[in-house]
Amino acid sequence: MKSVIKIIIISFWILIVSGLSQAQSQQDQCFVCHESIGDNVATLFKKDIHYQKNISCSACHGGNNKSEDMEEAMNPRNGYVGVPKGDQISTRCINCHSNSETMKKYGSNLPTNQIEQIRNSVHWQRSTKGTEHIVQCSTCHNAHGIVSVKNPSSPVYSLNLPKTCSKCHSNTVFMRSYNPSLPVDQFQKYKTSVHGIRNLNGDTKAADCSDCHGSHDIRKATDIKSKVYPTNIPETCSVCHSNANYMKSYNIATDQFSKFAASVHGKALLEKNDLNAPTCNSCHGNHAATPPGVESISKVCGTCHVLNSDLFSGSPHKQVFDKKKYPECETCHKYHDIVTASNELLGVSKNAVCSKCHSETENTKGFAIAKKMRSLIDSLESEIKTANELINEAEQKGMEISDAKFKLRDANQAKLESRTMVHSFDYEKFKEIVSNKGLKTTSQIKEEARSSIDNYFFRRYGLVVSVLIMTMLAVALYLYIKQIEKRKKTN
Ligand code: HEC
Ligand code: HEC
Ligand code: HEC
Ligand code: HEC
Ligand code: HEC
Ligand code: HEC
Ligand code: HEC
Ligand code: HEC
Ligand code: HEC
Ligand code: HEC
Ligand code: HEC
Repeated sequence: MKSVIKIIIISFWILIVSGLSQAQSQQDQCFVCHESIGDNVATLFKKDIHYQKNISCSACHGGNNKSEDMEEAMNPRNGYVGVPKGDQISTRCINCHSNSETMKKYGSNLPTNQIEQIRNSVHWQRSTKGTEHIVQCSTCHNAHGIVSVKNPSSPVYSLNLPKTCSKCHSNTVFMRSYNPSLPVDQFQKYKTSVHGIRNLNGDTKAADCSDCHGSHDIRKATDIKSKVYPTNIPETCSVCHSNANYMKSYNIATDQFSKFAASVHGKALLEKNDLNAPTCNSCHGNHAATPPGVESISKVCGTCHVLNSDLFSGSPHKQVFDKKKYPECETCHKYHDIVTASNELLGVSKNAVCSKCHSETENTKGFAIAKKMRSLIDSLESEIKTANELINEAEQKGMEISDAKFKLRDANQAKLESRTMVHSFDYEKFKEIVSNKGLKTTSQIKEEARSSIDNYFFRRYGLVVSVLIMTMLAVALYLYIKQIEKRKKTN
């Protein structure tokens, strides 16, 4: 009986030991030894997502991970490559990460396009040494202690990312060696923006570098496929700013994109591909994304609409608006939903912007002038219309009228100038253009066109009269000759 128990115990023991040693031989001997010698790498590796997936040190370094013998384990004959350098690093990573079959074996559904995207990115240029590319996978993800990108300790987690990119982008010496003209102030500026301030305070929802630039597919800002290329920007920003659910906790509007897309600027940019029109960052800055302050709005608009801005600054409105803190251009034109300006804006009718502040009882000086300005520009418009009709009539009658037609261009030019001159809010200056350049020209055109038309009628009726006279003369002559002949016969 005792011997039976002994046998059972012994066989259990054998089972346990063999099980243990099997477990031991399945363990990564590289890790076991490196941990036992207190290697920091092994400590880091313990929290590595690859360690959790039972991936061995040898997946990146090669070698025989079953051997407890150092010589044997780290022998180049067994595929040991030592510490990978340069492009060798990414080659190791993409052995798995660009192979969906391999990734599936580990139960992973992650995308496998990282290297494809990096190959098309600005970062896949050669390094200054020329032997490798600027970034490797480990540049942004580290080599050991790699965790999921959603883990707050990942270098690409939203709160850490600005620092990760800025390792290079804030390093003047490093960046100069690639492109001396590229600014190195992105992080500096970002820290002053609404996005950056929120990010530094632990808000992961505000835009970080990769929200605007992408992560693996980062391109030059001038590349038409870049997320920050002017025509792509509105889309990039609207991923968050048009998502009411995402922006719920901030209590700001989410209509910027839809308003912008329907505005005169949005149509010019997105439909006509007009790169002179502003996109989101033209008004908000690139890295210092803040709403332009009350005072700086006109400066922003004034970078393109120079004349309007200059005239406004010299106008009586300038002081009043400053004092009352009315935003300059925005008060009359709004900002995201700016539409084509028309005469309707001017004057004292219900739709006119002037009526917001001027009435018969309030700010009366401006009221009177607004009314006069409107009627002046209306009369120019109707005079241009009449002049145009007269020119057409004369042309249809085949009259030479190119001089008047040329003048019509001057009149239209005066109309354009007067629309801009509105911003002086000075009746005399406005009248100078509308009357002296505009109305004077239209009255000349009208005069010339009318006299051509008169000429036409003169020629036409003149011909009839002269034919009539000539016929009468011919008849008279005939009768006269006849009479002479008759007299001759009777003689
Ligand atoms: C029995 C212990 C032991 C085993 C097993 C072992 N190593 Fe090492 N390894 C060391 C020691 C000790 C060093 C440092 C000695 C040195 O600097 O050459 C080292 C160094 C390294 C280095 C750095 C080499 C360098 O050039 O700086 C790498 C990489 C490495 N080991 C990877 C591995 C891999 C991969 C495996 C498994 C295939 C492995 N090791 C297995 C003990 C071990
Ligand atoms: C996912 C790939 C990967 C795995 C897995 C990996 N390493 Fe590395 N290891 C690297 C890369 C890449 C470098 C080069 C790092 C660099 O240049 O910054 C490196 C560098 C090293 C070095 C050189 C010293 C250092 O700290 O840079 C040692 C030693 C090392 N690895 C040991 C190990 C050991 C031991 C394991 C397993 C416990 C391991 N590595 C697992 C990719 C890996
Ligand atoms: C310039 C920095 C950078 C480099 C270089 C880089 N990554 Fe990434 N990677 C990121 C960022 C940022 C994210 C996070 C994207 C997100 O949060 O949506 C990411 C995400 C990932 C993910 C998670 C899944 C995914 O695609 O979003 C994997 C896997 C990954 N990277 C692997 C790689 C591999 C493999 C390489 C090398 C071929 C590499 N990365 C090179 C910045 C980088
Ligand atoms: C042996 C195959 C293999 C190699 C080699 C490898 N990886 Fe991985 N990697 C994986 C697997 C499997 C996962 C886990 C995927 C999952 O959880 O869906 C992973 C996860 C990751 C993640 C986390 C992705 C996420 O957010 O969930 C990153 C980042 C990453 N690897 C980067 C690297 C880098 C950088 C290298 C090279 C230095 C590398 N990997 C080499 C197989 C590999
Ligand atoms: C809110 C969106 C946004 C964020 C966040 C952002 N950028 Fe930019 N970035 C832009 C825009 C827009 C441009 C310029 C496009 C242009 O010039 O037309 C730009 C341009 C750049 C350039 C080209 C040089 C320059 O300064 O014009 C670099 C480099 C750059 N960004 C890096 C970064 C880094 C690093 C971060 C994180 C610290 C970052 N960006 C964060 C939108 C952003
Ligand atoms: C290893 C250093 C390094 C890291 C890390 C790095 N970059 Fe770069 N980046 C560069 C270099 C070098 C260039 C190329 C400059 C050139 O040749 O014009 C560049 C170019 C760029 C450009 C194009 C600028 C242009 O010309 O319009 C953008 C945008 C950019 N990086 C954004 C990022 C972002 C975002 C991150 C973080 C996810 C990042 N970079 C991480 C080194 C780096
Ligand atoms: C990843 C999401 C995300 C992206 C992409 C993004 N933003 Fe933001 N943005 C936010 C969040 C969140 C806030 C914080 C809102 C707040 O504090 O009122 C914010 C704030 C702002 C503000 C300040 C609003 C205010 O009055 O406080 C402006 C302006 C702004 N963003 C413009 C932009 C522009 C322009 C772009 C594109 C170049 C952009 N954002 C891209 C998420 C984003
Ligand atoms: C023509 C200049 C201009 C353009 C283009 C522009 N904005 Fe604005 N934006 C402004 C001004 C001006 C303000 C705020 C003025 C104020 O606070 O009174 C503003 C305010 C904002 C705000 C704060 C909340 C709000 O709606 O008032 C956000 C967010 C914003 N803009 C995002 C965007 C985005 C996204 C785009 C591109 C789709 C864009 N902007 C295009 C001028 C512009
Ligand atoms: C007090 C109201 C008011 C303010 C403030 C104002 N505008 Fe105007 N703006 C008008 C009116 C009215 C018209 C239309 C004139 C017409 O078509 O008869 C106009 C027309 C325009 C036009 C089209 C005509 C042209 O010049 O090409 C532009 C552009 C313009 N404004 C830009 C601006 C800018 C930039 C600012 C800020 C510096 C500004 N406006 C401030 C009332 C205003
Ligand atoms: C980056 C240059 C740029 C900036 C900044 C800019 N605009 Fe414009 N704006 C344009 C261009 C280009 C057009 C002509 C679009 C078209 O009609 O094709 C235009 C058209 C207009 C018009 C209509 C003109 C008309 O003939 O009726 C108004 C009004 C206007 N902008 C006002 C503003 C105001 C107000 C701001 C500031 C909040 C502003 N713009 C900022 C470039 C700019
Ligand atoms: C946001 C309010 C506001 C709007 C909109 C506005 N004004 Fe004014 N304007 C004022 C105030 C306040 C004064 C100073 C009081 C006064 O003299 O009537 C003023 C003064 C003027 C003056 C100078 C009068 C003088 O001789 O001292 C003129 C001209 C004028 N406005 C014309 C206009 C015209 C034209 C429009 C429409 C295109 C307009 N204003 C729209 C507020 C406004």
